[in-house]
Amino acid sequence: MSTSGQPVYAERGVFVCFEGGDGSGKSTQSRRLAGWLAREGFHARLTHEPGDTLVGAELRRIVLSPETGELSDRTEALLYIADKAEHVDTVVWPALNRGEVVITDRYVDSTLAYQGAGRILDVGEVEAVARWATGDLRPHLTVVLDLEPEAGLGRFEGRDRIEGESLEFHQRVRDAFVAMAAADPEHYLVLDARSDIETIETAIRDAVRPLLAQADR
Ligand SMILES: Nc1ncnc2c1ncn2[C@@H]1O[C@H](COP(=O)(O)OP(=O)(O)O)[C@@H](O)[C@H]1O
Ligand SMILES: [Mg+2]
Repeated sequence: MSTSGQPVYAERGVFVCFEGGDGSGKSTQSRRLAGWLAREGFHARLTHEPGDTLVGAELRRIVLSPETGELSDRTEALLYIADKAEHVDTVVWPALNRGEVVITDRYVDSTLAYQGAGRILDVGEVEAVARWATGDLRPHLTVVLDLEPEAGLGRFEGRDRIEGESLEFHQRVRDAFVAMAAADPEHYLVLDARSDIETIETAIRDAVRPLLAQADR
């Protein structure tokens, strides 16, 4: 939680997050959004979790490498959350303070979905730790690319530790993303990830455009 116990939304800069299952199009759409923003003259900082800091890259290797083998569920959650703390402090806030548009491929909701709903840890407990670690900084907009797990996993080959989980696990993850969006419609956009890439891209631009008054060119 923040010191005030309230979610924190940056007053300068714009914070956009992409969430959704594996293969739902997060990397595709986050790159496209960053490209469009740059062409429009904004400073877009494309980033991702886990792994976009020096310590985060180490944490990412541990949590995703099949060589890691079994990890206690709590250990896994804490490693992901440590990555977030480092990411928010050293990447996200500095860019927001410069008036940039920060686009992150995954954020807190992924940990709530994968380590909470997926692993069946107590989601409220995981959330309390994740909110503490991130100072409860929230995206102005989270885009959920919604796709049945079978379709997403079918879009690529090779499985990391998380992608190799059961279909039931991935179904719980999907349901968790949709439920989080439904609970806070002001800050979420849920899109059908089966639509074509350009249709999704246009819907995302339409949702981001009104937020750009807070961003510097
Ligand atoms: N709307 C879409 N329809 C069909 N294929 C898509 C769509 N969006 C992305 N893809 C393809 O699906 C694969 C996974 O997309 P990616 O953006 O890497 O997903 P994620 O980052 O969510 O895992 C890529 O091969 C990508 O080209
Ligand atoms: Mg990706």
